[in-house]
Amino acid sequence: MGGTNPYSSAPKTERASRAFKITFKSAGESRELEVHPDDVPSSGTGLPGSLLDIALACEIDIDHACGGVSACSTCHVVVRQGLSSCNPSEEAEDDQLDKAPGLTPQSRLACQCVPSGTQDLVVEIPNWNRNLVREGR
Ligand code: FES
Repeated sequence: MGGTNPYSSAPKTERASRAFKITFKSAGESRELEVHPDDVPSSGTGLPGSLLDIALACEIDIDHACGGVSACSTCHVVVRQGLSSCNPSEEAEDDQLDKAPGLTPQSRLACQCVPSGTQDLVVEIPNWNRNLVREGR
C-alpha cells in the first residue's frame, strides 16, 4: 500500500464522510481545495487520502523524498487548523518528525496525515518549501 513503511504497521485512518476544505499556505500564497468524500483527489503517493496524496493530485507540490512512506521528513507540514480531525501520528512518523527543522506541536508528515473530514483544515507548507503552491492548470 502506498504511504506505508514496510518496516512498520499501517496507521489507522478514517476516510472523509462529508465534504471539507483544505487551505494550503506557503510564503504568502494560499490555495483552497474542496474535498468531496466520493471523489478524493489521489496521486497514489502517501497514505490514501493523506494531505500529500491530495496536494500532489491537485498540483500543489510538497517535497517527498522517500516517496511518501514515512522514511524522511521532507514532507513536514504544520496543520494550523483542524489537526484534531486527523489520524494521530504513529511512532515511525514521530521518529522522522524529530529530524525535521522548525518542528511545532502541530507538525505532521503530510504523507501520514489523513483528515477525517469532520473539520476544515489550514495547512502551512514551511518556508523551505516556499513558492511550491501553484495554481492548477
Ligand atoms: S515523504 Fe518521506 S516521510 Fe513523507
